[in-house]
This record gives sequence, C-alpha cells and structure tokens, in this order.
Amino acid sequence: MSESKGNTIIQFQHVTKRYDAREPAVLNDVSLELERGKFYTLLGPSGCGKTTILRLIAGFTEPSEGHIYFNGELINEVPANERQVNTVFQDYALFPHLNVFENVAFGLRIKKLKEPVIRQKVEESLRFVNLKGYENREITEMSGGQRQRVAIARAIVNEPEILLLDEPLSALDLKLRTEMQYELRELQRRLGITFVFVTHDQEEALAMSDEIFVLNEGRIQQSGTPNDIYDEPINRFVADFIGESNIVKARMLRDFQVEIAGKVYECVDQGLNPNEAVDVVIRPEDLEIVPPEQGKLQVRVDTQLFRGVHYEISCYDDSGNEWLVHSTRKATVGERIGLRFDPEAIHVMRLGETEEEFDRRLESYEEHDDGE
Ligand SMILES: Nc1ncnc2c1ncn2[C@@H]1O[C@H](COP(=O)(O)OP(=O)(O)O)[C@@H](O)[C@H]1O
Ligand SMILES: [Mg+2]
Repeated sequence: MSESKGNTIIQFQHVTKRYDAREPAVLNDVSLELERGKFYTLLGPSGCGKTTILRLIAGFTEPSEGHIYFNGELINEVPANERQVNTVFQDYALFPHLNVFENVAFGLRIKKLKEPVIRQKVEESLRFVNLKGYENREITEMSGGQRQRVAIARAIVNEPEILLLDEPLSALDLKLRTEMQYELRELQRRLGITFVFVTHDQEEALAMSDEIFVLNEGRIQQSGTPNDIYDEPINRFVADFIGESNIVKARMLRDFQVEIAGKVYECVDQGLNPNEAVDVVIRPEDLEIVPPEQGKLQVRVDTQLFRGVHYEISCYDDSGNEWLVHSTRKATVGERIGLRFDPEAIHVMRLGETEEEFDRRLESYEEHDDGE
C-alpha cells in the first residue's frame, strides 16, 4: 500500500522510464501525487516526457523502476482497459466513417451495453460538451472545435475517474483555443473528476490549472499552484519557461544583501552561504520607470513595443545586461532612465537546489516574518 492520504487518486513513487535500455531514461525518478477532482497540468518543452507520464497513468506502458498507485493500490501491471482512465489525444483519433453519435458510442458498444443505456449515456455526454442535436452529423462535417468536443464526449461517456488530455488544444487557432480553455475548465468543475492536461504553452497552464508540474528532461523541476510557480520559480529553467523574466547571475553577500552586476541590493533572502553564487530573477512588471537619479539601476532604452495593455521595453545597463520592463508608461528609445524595484521583487535562486530544499527555505522566511 502507498502511504498517501484518502484524497489521493494517483501516486508516482520514484518512477523511472526507459524505452530503450541503451538510451538515457526518458523519465527520471518522478514522484507526484494527484488528488481527486483537481485540474492538473504537465508543462514542459517538447520531448521532456509529458506524454510518457500520461501513458504510464493510462497503462499504455509500464515503469522501468518505481511504483504507480491508483486509489492506494499498486497498478504497475494493471492493463489499460482495467483502469478508470480515459485519454483525449492531440489528433482526437476520431473515426471519420462514423457519425458523431457512433463515435461517442463506440466504447459502450464494445462493452456490449444495451441500446437504451447507450443512447442515454451518449446523449448525456453530448449535452455535457454542448453538442446536443449533432448526433447524426458526420465527423467530416464538424469544425476543429466541434471535433475536439466529440473527442471529449467519447472519453467522458465511460465515466472515468481521471481524464487525460494530451495537448488537445494545440491544433486550434488562438481564439478558439481560448474559448476551449474556458470550456474545459468549466467541464472539469461540472464533472468533478481529475483532469491531467498536457501543454507546452505556459499561459495556458497558468490560466487553467489548480496545480502545475513543470518538467524538463524527464524530471519534475517544480510543482505548485500557478501563483506559486510564477512568483517563486525554483531555478533558471522554470523562471525562463514561465512568463517573461530578467534572469541574471548574482552573488549573495550575506543575509538580505545580493550583488548584481557590481551593485549591492537589499533583498528578502537569508540562510545562504556568504558570497554564494546564485541566479536572480526579477519580473518585468516589477520594474518601475523613474528618473535616472531615483532608480536603483540606470539603463538606456533600446526598443519599445506596445502590447495592448503595457509597453514592453528592452533596456541595457552599463555592464551590457538586458533588462525587460513592462510599463503602462511610455518611454523613449535612446532615453536614459532609472529602474526602481522592491526588495521582494528580487527572487534569489540557489544553484542546484531541490524542490524540497527550496520549499523549506521559503517556509523558513515566513517563520522569520511571523517572529518579527
Ligand atoms: N515509444 C517510444 N519508444 C522510444 N522512445 C520514445 C517513445 N515514446 C517517446 N519516446 C522518447 O521519449 C522522450 C519523451 O517523449 P514524450 O513523453 O513523448 O515527450 P513530450 O510528450 O513531452 O513531448 C522523447 O525523447 C521521445 O523521443
Ligand atoms: Mg507529447
């Protein structure tokens, strides 16, 4: 038995996956816990192992090492058709020669359910995805977004406990994709089952998820709510992958003092070694444009783009570092400006820190705050 709590539906313990014994592992010591009824996202670049995690949950492949639990029971060797899991694939994998109704009914017919039961379940699924009345349409007559919904109806008609969605929106254009993001999120709330959604799009992940797992090269880099991950990225990879960032090499002189490009700044970090080399991230929206003499940092404006809500301004300091600023105030290209930021805007990242160590460090800051 696993050591997990009652609300856990899926647990990975130190799961490693090799498709080929001669190649490096595709997943490396992945441990994770998914709770019932939440919307999870696996986020990472192409080839980082997202689909492999879904295939392990679905039972299309077995782990090379480690354990996978479903509702507390070891399922490493349970075949796919005995798991309460359904998958929506990127290409939808619909049957082009069957109409909408028969596509959704397909799995139920294999299970040899009675006709009235099939009819009732298919109708209900189609209603869930707003396709009531489309039963007799051919798949070829449906738009991209509608096909997407048929694929979802076909998955939820089996009443799975977990729905896996492998980049289901990547083939849609931007406007439709945004609509489907709302729809999927809403559908998950109404169904109340666990969704595991895969994307390489960080904005999509931030908009949709209760919790995100950021993956790179077969390892979970960081997990947490969208806010946690955006506000406190664990390392350079996560900071760079999630949102736009200024990431610079720096040195932690002592508690609350960090040296960036030869200047010393006040920060909120503590407990690192004196003079420890670190990476620092400052989000573009945390930089405020002020007259040069009022700035903590002086830079020259290089380029400026209007992004609808804010200006995206690229600047260079005297050491040649680029600083990206998001500002509702317009600047002038070539102008010398000051940048102001709060000590809290500096996020110090220890090199090679594990997620456990990182979490413990941040928690210790809060304890410190409470004591004051
Ligand atoms: N069936 C397979 N046999 C061998 N290698 C595979 C197989 N499936 C995936 N891989 C490799 O595993 C790595 C991770 O793939 P995948 O999980 O599909 O990543 P993602 O979905 O994040 O793009 C890639 O390098 C891919 O080439
Ligand atoms: Mg994939």
